[in-house]
Amino acid sequence: MNPEFSYLSEVSAEKGNLIKGLQLIQEREGYVSDDGIKAAAAHFSLADAEVEGVLTFYAQFKRNKPGKYQISTCDGTACHIKGAPLIQEWLTTALGIKSGETTEDGLFSIETVACLGCCSLAPVMAINGRVYGKLDRKALLKIINEYKKQG
Ligand code: FES
Repeated sequence: MNPEFSYLSEVSAEKGNLIKGLQLIQEREGYVSDDGIKAAAAHFSLADAEVEGVLTFYAQFKRNKPGKYQISTCDGTACHIKGAPLIQEWLTTALGIKSGETTEDGLFSIETVACLGCCSLAPVMAINGRVYGKLDRKALLKIINEYKKQG
């Protein structure tokens, strides 16, 4: 097995532990890469495609390396009503990526979440856990530009 993933030996190699193993990979790497899939398949004696199937089924797993700045856009009910789809659109225009993707320079990634727990500030997004609320296009672009400047 790829030595990078030798920590998988912490999980016993029964097939029923596959999810646990994948969670461990995501916890350590921040996502599950193609190499991670191969390592899990080898550890649990499964085909790569079987592991991939499980990953696709469970939304908790990320397949792309998260950006330095992880943007979580809320699409819970309150945010949706207050324009969450527009937030997604503006971000896609500004960064050239959709939810679930990472910019080529590795700086930004976007994920969509169900509720960030601050509905009164809708529409809301968080960057590396810091919440930005009552967003409009101008405010959003200003925030993104500040992060871009920090590099
Ligand atoms: S619905 Fe967006 S923070 Fe709750």
